[in-house]
Amino acid sequence: SVVVGRRVRSRRKWRRVLALLEELEEGCDTPVGRLRQVVDAMAVEMHAGLASEGGSKLKMLLSFVDRLPNGSEKGTYYALDLGGTNFRVLRVQLGGQRSSILEKDVERQPIPQHLMTSTSENLFDFIASDLKEFVERERDSSETSLPRRRELGFTFSFPVKQTSVSSGILIKWTKGFHIEDVVGREVSECLEQAMARKGLNMRVAILVNDTVGTLALGHYLDADTVAAVIIGTGTNACYWERTDAIIKCQGLLTSSGGMVINMEWGNFWSSHLPRTMYDIELDAKSPNPNDQGFEKMIAGMYLGEIVRRVLQRMSQEADIFGTDPSKTPMIAAMHEDDSPELAEVARIFREVLEIPDVPLKVRKLVVKVCDVVTRRAGRLAAAGIVGILKKIGRDGSGGITGGRSRSDARMRRTVVAIEGGLYTSYTMFREYLHEALIEILGEDIAQHVILKVTEDGSGTGAALLAATYSSNSVDSVQ
Ligand code: GLC
Repeated sequence: SVVVGRRVRSRRKWRRVLALLEELEEGCDTPVGRLRQVVDAMAVEMHAGLASEGGSKLKMLLSFVDRLPNGSEKGTYYALDLGGTNFRVLRVQLGGQRSSILEKDVERQPIPQHLMTSTSENLFDFIASDLKEFVERERDSSETSLPRRRELGFTFSFPVKQTSVSSGILIKWTKGFHIEDVVGREVSECLEQAMARKGLNMRVAILVNDTVGTLALGHYLDADTVAAVIIGTGTNACYWERTDAIIKCQGLLTSSGGMVINMEWGNFWSSHLPRTMYDIELDAKSPNPNDQGFEKMIAGMYLGEIVRRVLQRMSQEADIFGTDPSKTPMIAAMHEDDSPELAEVARIFREVLEIPDVPLKVRKLVVKVCDVVTRRAGRLAAAGIVGILKKIGRDGSGGITGGRSRSDARMRRTVVAIEGGLYTSYTMFREYLHEALIEILGEDIAQHVILKVTEDGSGTGAALLAATYSSNSVDSVQ
């Protein structure tokens, strides 16, 4: 009969959907052996990126930050944090002792979408106006003495070729920003000119990547902090490197013997990465094809879009939603829906994606897809972190060239500062990351590795560094 025929057809279609799911699971599979290959590749690429300019897809950018805040910083400093979906302005009052942040004001604002693809002047004028208002509010309330020249830490979270600790040139945009006339330009200058146009008397004391700000705060709070990782809209890491390992800058001398390196690991690539057709499509349709391959598998800006592509493919195969999902789903909320009926998933489909009446079995399928994509992301991020630990000899194996065996390596307490919404707000992601870290390192070693969330680290750290490097500061050696 017609009904039976329809049922058979729908069963056949559902089987095709399940086959797609299986294919996705295989494509995203990250057994520990594969993760170890990613770890090795990361460490190898780090070496290559340090050996010569352009030696690797990992840029391994110099930050010129050769000392980290040590607690002696004193005074009021500002920071401006630009680079994700929000931008923040901060004022931080430092008391001159370790961990004595006396006061901190933070103001967050979403960046209007149109400014992300506008002109340099529009973007920087907008930021400078906001900063000016923020500064003026302080003057009203507390400042009695003459207005002084303020020192600003500028966190600009894009790949920048630094020319000094306070200046650098934008190499390219990432994370959906696209303002052609800033590429190749001096970013601090763009900001300082905008501040001058707005009549704001401020000097960019330091220009840093968000990872570097996070490391600065992490180190200020806990001196065992050696690296920092951001997993939010985008993803990246930085770490403390010995200058003699930075071969591409021979003769680089710093009083501390080291410098923070901004890896720009979002652009890491290796044939060991588990890549699916959805990743390939996403990359091809992105504004920066062939760039930021690691980031596109991990960061918040892309995970929802991968899931959407999978669901779209499934719906084309078997019309499971009645229409193609055209909007990006909120995967964390759906993934963490633990109600038996998956009511939150139903709500998101109804209200956000405008697709009503998604049956329970399809809702379960959606949650599974979120799980597969998020699990891969968390596990790859863990492999990236271990890659850094391996490079600096903190993975318990004595480093790439070290001769010590696992058993006699005395593992030091090693802290990695970490920040970004994907890690701090998405529990499942975080759990997958931790689980993989333990799988790769083994319990014995992993217990010495501490991932520590630094709240507002990218901005607060920039204010701290502004203090460390400010023209008023006494020399503070690390
Ligand atoms: C992107 C940027 C990088 C930044 C990261 C996290 O990968 O290129 O500079 O650190 O996002 O915000």
